[in-house]
Amino acid sequence: MRAVIQDRYGSPDIVVLGEIPEPVPAAGEVLIKVRAASLNGSDRENLAGSPFYARLGGLRRPRRPVPGSDVAGVVEAVGDGVAEYGPGDEVFGELLGYRGALAEYVATPPKLLARKPPSLSFVDAAAIPQAGCIAYRATQGVQEGDAVLVNGAGGAGGALVVALAKRLGAEVTAVDRADKADYLRQIGADEAIGYEDEDWADRRGSYDRVIDLVGHRSPYRVQRALKPGGAYLMVGGHARILLAVLIAGPTAGWRAKKRVRVLAVPQSRADLEAVTALVVAGAVAPVIDRVFPLAEAPAAFARLASGDNRGKVVIEVP
Ligand SMILES: NC(=O)c1ccc[n+]([C@@H]2O[C@H](COP(=O)([O-])OP(=O)(O)OC[C@H]3O[C@@H](n4cnc5c(N)ncnc54)[C@H](OP(=O)(O)O)[C@@H]3O)[C@@H](O)[C@H]2O)c1
Repeated sequence: MRAVIQDRYGSPDIVVLGEIPEPVPAAGEVLIKVRAASLNGSDRENLAGSPFYARLGGLRRPRRPVPGSDVAGVVEAVGDGVAEYGPGDEVFGELLGYRGALAEYVATPPKLLARKPPSLSFVDAAAIPQAGCIAYRATQGVQEGDAVLVNGAGGAGGALVVALAKRLGAEVTAVDRADKADYLRQIGADEAIGYEDEDWADRRGSYDRVIDLVGHRSPYRVQRALKPGGAYLMVGGHARILLAVLIAGPTAGWRAKKRVRVLAVPQSRADLEAVTALVVAGAVAPVIDRVFPLAEAPAAFARLASGDNRGKVVIEVP
């Protein structure tokens, strides 16, 4: 079968299209004929092998060479013991270990998969899993009228974070490259800040919640932007900041009852189904930047690495 191969860490030009044996579903696995897969910031990190957590799947080179974690497709076959899905079922979800989606077929345990609603295209379904689960967890507890800041809102995951926060009645400030300001307002942000123009962390006491997809400030600095009782959630960003937030977050801002912490987003079928129900109901929608055919996967990675994507880069498998 055709598959995208990444045999080392590096820039998008190391990604090639190759031929590898079609996987055979083991006991407890389903074999999916892939129809679409979408890229996330984590795929860019897994390509570069940086930050360090991107090398958990192989210190010197990826143990599993096929990248891609978000997938939508049709069940082709099932291994022993799988009763939940059968051939012909349309499914989507995140793959365990965040690898394997960019191929004609992938075998995976079904526990993270959900049935694709008939009204969703494979492309739209593939755009939801990781971004949707991040958005769902990061916006839990947001109240009507809350001031919410989303840092790094213009990439793969930001659109659903902004949309879910708006749906809950928040006033949303979105931060990204200045040339994405129009896009950020289009996806529902009340205010857009270009990170080259202003440092949002200087806005003392302004936010009930900061959702940070690209954390690179110290926990002491980010807590200043929070109102008393507010929360800073670090979803992604620099490894050293991740450690700093883990270690010092609980004490930063504690006097004003501010919470500064890392948000660990579990790979969860229940979360995926909850956010997808909102998409099907028309309450929120994933934003598709561009759709590439599998043969142009290197170009899709280049687009992701450039940071020019506004929303999801999707790869369709004919
Ligand atoms: N916590 C968890 O459990 C969990 C689970 C899954 C994924 N993640 C992480 O979540 C993150 C997901 O983000 P994503 O998929 O939306 O990433 P993404 O597509 O890379 O988007 C990040 C956006 O941030 C922008 N940006 C870069 N530097 C910035 C700065 N200094 N200030 C503001 N914006 C900046 C980027 O624009 P430019 O590059 O053009 O500047 C880009 O538009 C990844 O780091 C991933 O590893 C966490």
